[in-house]
Order: sequence, then structure tokens, then C-alpha cells
Amino acid sequence: MQVIQSLSAWKELRPQLTGALGLIPTMGALHEGHLALMRRAREENEIAVLWIFVNPKQFAEDADFGSYPRVMEEDLRLAGECGMDYVLAPGAREVYPEDFQTYVEVEQLSQPLEGAHRAGHFRGVATVVAKMLCLTQPQRAYFGQKDAQQTLVVKRMVEDLGMLTEIVVCPTVRDQDGLALSSRNARLSPRERKAALVLYRALKDVETALRCGERDCEVLRGRMRDILGREPRAEVEYVSIADPNTLAECATVAGPVLASLAVQIGDTRLIDNLQIEPRG
Ligand code: PAJ
Repeated sequence: MQVIQSLSAWKELRPQLTGALGLIPTMGALHEGHLALMRRAREENEIAVLWIFVNPKQFAEDADFGSYPRVMEEDLRLAGECGMDYVLAPGAREVYPEDFQTYVEVEQLSQPLEGAHRAGHFRGVATVVAKMLCLTQPQRAYFGQKDAQQTLVVKRMVEDLGMLTEIVVCPTVRDQDGLALSSRNARLSPRERKAALVLYRALKDVETALRCGERDCEVLRGRMRDILGREPRAEVEYVSIADPNTLAECATVAGPVLASLAVQIGDTRLIDNLQIEPRG
């Protein structure tokens, strides 16, 4: 496995590589969710490239960016175990040199949910993903359903800008008790870790209600708020029952829906979602 920090070195190397390249974009602090993406990319491509870069342009607050976990040595060990051929880990000055001035904005899909609570977040995501797709020219790039809105934003960008990469979306990996794995989970105290289970509980409740025939989305959102309200450590940012393609909020359930939520547990902001197919 080769670790490359210099983008100019990578630019010289890339034209010499042949065969399908699979790219896994991450911000590091790798966990089983990331490993699942790496393993799938390893299986499906001749060359597997892990991208590790904590992207300052997708953080609204400097404090959040500053405290994002950084554990490069451990990440490289895990990348090696997953059979990565290359790890691209550029510095911020290389990705964004002083004269950087080009941004990508996916207009509608960036607005609701995460976009409404994290100003400029998806502009930062789309810009850095566009840059890494240009740099690596992958056949396939792997993303997690855990960040459902991100997958929609990236797919839209790829379609709109005529990029040739196939976007592969992989299922959310959870701990045994249901908590979706996230690099941010490392910040939770044992008590907060327990409280954080309320996210999955609220999503599963929507699934059960929907399967029992509930079709009124305001009722479903209300049920989520009730469950979250009973956990004193949880502060709700949003709950949503939306169309899984457009992210428009639904009034009644007429097909598959994306139930999603963002909740602050102590100082840690967590998100999760379930795509639910109503029966019959
Ligand atoms: P990061 O949060 O490091 O996530 C990297 C990829 O791993 C994303 O596609 C994310 O959806 C996926 N992922 C995270 N937790 C997961 C889980 N529990 N199960 C399955 N997949 C999971 O997302 C980003 O970084 C950044 O926004 C990035 C795309 C790298 C742009 O900077």
C-alpha cells in the first residue's frame, strides 16, 4: 500500500494506472462503516484508493472542524488490512491553495434537512467530491446510506456535470444495539452512548407504525418527536418523513419514504435514517 500526500505526485502517477479504479472518500477516523465500503471497493475494482481528508469547507463551525477525530496511524493500519492499493491523504493547502475559487453547488437537494441546519455544508461536500473525482478518475465511488442526503447530492452532481463515475451506495452499518456507526460516536460518554440509542428507536417506531398501516406523516413525525422527547440528553434538530429521491416532505405515505433525523446528544450531533417501504 502506498500513502500519497502530495497531489502533484498523484497527478504524475494516475495516468500510469490501468484497470477500474474504486474510490472510497472519507474524512478518516475509520470504523466498520468505512471498512464495509473499502471491502466492497476492493472486490469490485482492480485498484482501490482510499481518500482521507478532513474537509474544512464542509464544516460550518471551526470548533467542530478542530475537534473532528484524527487518527492517521490507525487509519493506515485498517486501510492496509482492507487491501487498499493507495491512500490519498492530501493537506488542506494542497486541496485548497490560496488562489482556490471554484465551487460546486447542487441547488435544491442541498437545501432541506442537513442543508437547513449546516450552512454551506453540501457546497463544501460537492466541491471536494468533484475535486477528488477529477483527480482520481474512478470507475466507481463508494458512499454510505448513513448520509442519505449526501448520496443524493453527489449523484445529482455526477449526473448534471456529466461525470463518468458510477456512485455505489452501501447500507448503513450499525452496532449490535442499532446505533449507526459514526466517527463522532467516539466523543460520546458511556451515558451519552446509551442515550444515543434513541435515534434508532425513533426510526424503528416509524417503521412499525407504517407497517401497521399508519399513513399520516405528521403523525409519524409526532411519534418520533415523542420518543426523542422522553430522552433528557437528546435535543432534536429535525425529524423528517420525505420522498427518498427529492427529499420533499410527505403529507401521506404513498410509496417508499426516507425517515431521517438529526439529534444533539450532549455536545455531539448525530444523524441517522431508514428508508422504509410500506407494505401492500
Ligand atoms: P465520512 O463521514 O468519513 O464518511 C465517509 C463515507 O462513509 C460516507 O460515504 C459515509 O456515508 C460512509 N459511512 C459513514 N458511517 C457509515 C455507516 N455507519 N455505515 C455505512 N457507511 C457509513 O461523508 C464524509 O466523510 C464526507 O462528507 C466526504 C464524502 C468524505 C467528503 O468530505
